[in-house]
Amino acid sequence: MAMNNRDAESANRAHWDEVAPVHLKSYGVEGLVRGESWIDGLQKRELYPVAGKDLIHLQCHIGTDTLSLARDGARVTGVDFSPASLAVARELAEKMGLQVDFIESNVLELAGKNNKKFDIVYTSKGVLGWISDITKWAETISSLLKPGGVFYIFEQHPLTLMFDDTLEGELKIKYSYFHQDEPTHWDDDHPDYSDQTYVPKNKTYEWFWPLADIVNAVIRAGLVIELLNEHDVGFHRQLPDMTKGADGWWRLEKYGDKLPLTFSLRAKNPL
Ligand SMILES: C[S@@+](CC[C@H](N)C(=O)[O-])C[C@H]1O[C@@H](n2cnc3c(N)ncnc32)[C@H](O)[C@@H]1O
Repeated sequence: MAMNNRDAESANRAHWDEVAPVHLKSYGVEGLVRGESWIDGLQKRELYPVAGKDLIHLQCHIGTDTLSLARDGARVTGVDFSPASLAVARELAEKMGLQVDFIESNVLELAGKNNKKFDIVYTSKGVLGWISDITKWAETISSLLKPGGVFYIFEQHPLTLMFDDTLEGELKIKYSYFHQDEPTHWDDDHPDYSDQTYVPKNKTYEWFWPLADIVNAVIRAGLVIELLNEHDVGFHRQLPDMTKGADGWWRLEKYGDKLPLTFSLRAKNPL
């Protein structure tokens, strides 16, 4: 039976509420609380400086990157539709003595819940698969920006989502690269990406968005693309053969530098 987007999003919200306290333990936030920034050098080179800017972080989860951006001097608002994630984010903000506003909302329904405009709209690391409508997503981003404001995303490359992520030793195409209206239902015993000993009970639905759909949605929303980069490093163990380097990035060493694992895009709202 076809799943409507609203029901799929409700199922996803239950999943994120379930894993938020798990992630508070498994992310290892001690360094962050002590003063580390969790925004990596790659993103800093492409986006910074953020100090003194009004910044909204979409799909902020438990706030680890949100709080890093606040510590680096931005005036930050975090958005997420998972109340349990935001509860953890607020707890961390208090512990770190940082002032951040949080809005509980589906990104696609943000319009009625916020009337502020921002210098920077930021989103990263495991966000697009949860978005059911890429056109509305890009229009929402555009509507949040001040004239001259900048949108920045750092995300896993859609190419990597095609492969069977249970197979070791080979890359086998399992999923279409292209978008399907019906979301993919992940109803298996795959452990959580951050805690390999935890198998979430609430299963998820995800939408695939090829790079062309993402780029075209941003262009159609009136933003001017300033940078689109594809990187041969990843931010988590997305495929079983990936290994973590001393620099903290994950790589598919067996395939050398032949595959893009992440991409970044920066686009400007015209003045
Ligand atoms: C993989 S996490 C983002 C991870 C984050 N970058 C981090 O490093 O912790 C995805 C987040 O998106 C949120 N989310 C998923 N779909 C959403 C939607 N439609 N609107 C708002 N938040 C959503 C989830 O609640 C979750 O907190």
